[in-house]
Amino acid sequence: MPPRMRRWIVRPATRPLRGAFRVPGDKSISHRALILASLAEGTSVLRGLSPGEDVARTRAIMASLGVAIGDVDERTAQVVGTGLGGLRAPPEATLDCGNAGTSMRLIAGVLAAQGFDTILTGDASLCRRPMGRITRPLRARGALIEGTIDPVRRDETAPLVIRGLTGGKRLFASEQSLSVASAQVKSCLLLSGLFADGETSVREPTLSRDHTERMLLAMGAPLRTMGPVSQMDPSGWDGVLAPLDIEVPGDPSAAAFWVVAAHVVEGSRVQIRGVGINPTRTGFLEALRDQGGGAGVVPKGEVGGEPVGDLHVGVGGTGTLRRSAHVAGELTARCIDEIPALVAAAAVSPGESRFEDLAELRVKESDRVASLAAMLGAFGIEHRVSSDGMTVVGGRPRGGAVIATHGDHRIAMAAAVLALGAAGETTIEDTACVDTSDPDFVTILRGLGGEIEVSG
Ligand code: S3P
Repeated sequence: MPPRMRRWIVRPATRPLRGAFRVPGDKSISHRALILASLAEGTSVLRGLSPGEDVARTRAIMASLGVAIGDVDERTAQVVGTGLGGLRAPPEATLDCGNAGTSMRLIAGVLAAQGFDTILTGDASLCRRPMGRITRPLRARGALIEGTIDPVRRDETAPLVIRGLTGGKRLFASEQSLSVASAQVKSCLLLSGLFADGETSVREPTLSRDHTERMLLAMGAPLRTMGPVSQMDPSGWDGVLAPLDIEVPGDPSAAAFWVVAAHVVEGSRVQIRGVGINPTRTGFLEALRDQGGGAGVVPKGEVGGEPVGDLHVGVGGTGTLRRSAHVAGELTARCIDEIPALVAAAAVSPGESRFEDLAELRVKESDRVASLAAMLGAFGIEHRVSSDGMTVVGGRPRGGAVIATHGDHRIAMAAAVLALGAAGETTIEDTACVDTSDPDFVTILRGLGGEIEVSG
C-alpha cells in the first residue's frame, strides 16, 4: 500500500476518556519562528516546534536558502539567522511546499524581495488553492511573481514563478484592504514589507491570527498594530531583527479535537497542558461554551509574546453540550481551522446547529464544506449545505461508516473523534495526511483510552 493509503479503524468508546497531556507545538507559530529566525541577526533557539510535515517543509526551504538550521533535540532547532540581506539562491530553483499553504504564502513574501529567481510549488491540493490573493498585492508593490492561471477557478494557483529584483530595485510601499480576514495574506505582505522601501499597511475585515505581528514586535521590527490594522514603516529602522529564544505553545487547533472528543464521550475528563490561548485562536472554546460545554482555561503566563494556558474538560460543568451551535461572522474567522471539530461536536449536540460565513472553508486543504457534508452523510447525520453555510441536525452517528478524508488532515481527525460516539466501528481511509499537522494524534487517542487500529 502506498504511504498515503494509511487507514484507521476507530471503535466507539466504551469508557470515558481520561488523561493529562500536551499537544504538538503550534503549526502557525512554528512556521513564523523558522522564517523570522532565518532573517534575524544572530542565533535563535526554537523549542517545541511542530513535528508535522508542513513545518518540516518551511524548515527545508529556509535551509536551502542558505540558513544554517540544526537540531538541539527532537523538537528544538537552532537557527543561525542570515540577517535581512543574507539569503542565497537555492541549489534548485524549485522549492516544494508540499501540502502547506502557510509555507507557500509566507515564504512568497520573502522570496518576492530577493535578487534571485525561485519557483514555489506544492502537492496537488496546494496547487489548486487560490494564490491571486498574494500575487496581486505583491505585484502591486513591484514584485515579479506570476502564478498559473486556473480557468475554472478564475484565479492564479501554484506553481508561483518569482523573478529576482535586479539593478538595486526594491519593493515599494503597499496599502491593502483585504476582502477576507487572512493571516497568510497579511503575513505575506508584512514579511515582504521588511524588505520594502516604504510603509506596509494591511487592513483586515476582522483580525485574523496575529502571530506574525507579535513575533515581529518581539524582534524589534518597526510595526504598529491597531485591531485589524497593521502598519510597518521601515524608514529610520536599522533593519535588524533580534534573534528569538522561544518555547512554541501547544497548538490550539490540535487541542480542539481532544476538547471535542471529551464532549463526544460522556463523562470524560481531560487536561491539555501548555496550549496557546491567543484570542485570535480560541473561538472554538467560545462556540462550545455557547453550547453549554467548553473547557476551563487556567492561564499559565506568556511565552514569546503568546499567552499559554491549560485546558480542562469535564470539570465545573464543562464537557456536556446542552444546545446547538451557532457560529457566524467574526467568530467563524476565529475558529476557521476548528470548524471540522465543531461540526463533529454539532453532530452529537441537541437540535440544529448552524455554521455561517464558511466561504473560506471551501479553499482549504480540501473543500471542507463538501468533505464535512460527505463525512456527516456517511455517519447518517442529517445536514444541509449552502455555498457558504452548513446546518447539522444532531443525532447518533451510525456504525459501519467509511469516511474519505480527501487528503485533508482535519477531516480525518474530525471523523476519528466523532467515531468515538458512533453506534459501531468506523473506517477512515487515507489518513497519512494527519502527519502534516499532528503525527501524535494516534498516540494521544490511545493514551486517553480510545481504540484505534492503524493499517497501511
Ligand atoms: C494560517 C492561516 C489560516 C489558517 C491556516 C493557517 C496561518 O489561513 O486556515 O491553517 O498560519 O497563517 P488563511 O490565512 O488562508 O485564513
